[in-house]
Amino acid sequence: RGQRAHLLQLADAGTPRYVYHLPTVRARARALAAIKPIDQRYYAIKANSHPAILQLLEAEGFGLECVSHGELKHVFQHLPELSPKRVLFTPSFCPRSDYEAAFALGVTVTVDNVEALQRWPDLFRNRELWLRVDLGRGEGHHAKVRTGGKDSKFGLPIARVDEFVRAATDLGSRVVGLHAHLGSGVETAQHWRLMCDELAGFARRIGSVHTIDIGGGLPIPYSAEDEPFDLDAWAEGLAEVKALHPAFRLAIEPGRYLVAESGVLLSHATQVVEKDGVRRVGLDAGMNTLMRPALYDAWHDIENLSRQGGYAEAAFDVVGPICESSDVFGKRRKLPVSTAPDDVMLIADAGAYGYVMSNTYNQRAMPREDVIE
Ligand code: LLP
Repeated sequence: RGQRAHLLQLADAGTPRYVYHLPTVRARARALAAIKPIDQRYYAIKANSHPAILQLLEAEGFGLECVSHGELKHVFQHLPELSPKRVLFTPSFCPRSDYEAAFALGVTVTVDNVEALQRWPDLFRNRELWLRVDLGRGEGHHAKVRTGGKDSKFGLPIARVDEFVRAATDLGSRVVGLHAHLGSGVETAQHWRLMCDELAGFARRIGSVHTIDIGGGLPIPYSAEDEPFDLDAWAEGLAEVKALHPAFRLAIEPGRYLVAESGVLLSHATQVVEKDGVRRVGLDAGMNTLMRPALYDAWHDIENLSRQGGYAEAAFDVVGPICESSDVFGKRRKLPVSTAPDDVMLIADAGAYGYVMSNTYNQRAMPREDVIE
């Protein structure tokens, strides 16, 4: 709201347009950096890979977590001085060429299956590896973002940890990091503490592990009814468990928490239509611009930025221009009854998994991006 005039001005230059407020990213980064038991912080760049955000988080002491050769190239293109020691590569079912590129760059490589070691022994010989395990359960805001348990493609089942360590040892390699990420948008603060405890047990058994990485997954309050994540309770839990396992360095790799609240999606209303008693406002942004509502039924607050305060309200469905019935940002949302074509509409908390997941379906243009310093 404090940036309303500036946002309206940016919208004039063309929509749909994502805008990121860098001071918000910096504030979240510093809140996490203040948490004592955490020794290493990585930012999962898949959430938002805008160069200004990567540069800001690097300057705040974050390493970067990448999942593809494309993300690795992007990171080193925009941060050419970055030490590869500060980069994690955590792929899933990637081609051999991605691992080759990652080893050539000298970044830390995470593996999550025995079959890769068996199929490409030359590739994994004499390496220091991190191992991603599946602790047998998934958590998160939607079934599509839970990354643990039998139905999930991620992570080595714990029953095969010994087999993995043997295979690695036979290749002259060592498991020096142990990682788990069981889902995204997890509401229970105890989740990470428990994970840390379980991972420490396995790390001790493996013997060569120095770092435990408890993944990302921190939630943000998308609606006024959501409780903000209790960072203090989270930190206390981690401190307790860290005290039990002081031998290991503790790492995290959040994405959403750092960037979601910094970003808004600006669009213009195109048409306002009433059909069978339902009022709809159409935007020039669609499910191709921000996929989260269509993909996960995700909630994002929606506001009419052109008409703020004191307007009589009515319920509108907020839709886009894509030829699919899932192209809906929100149903029965309260908006000024006078909402009209050309009004600037704002979709909130769109800084994570927004632009990075956008596409040109229906031959619609990609959104633009701006940052506010
Ligand atoms: N580490 C790994 C290995 C991951 O797979 C992910 C996210 C993260 C860290 C960061 O998770 P975060 O802190 O952002 O929850 N598109 C979905 C989220 C997909 C998350 C994928 N992996 C959404 O919009 O909700």
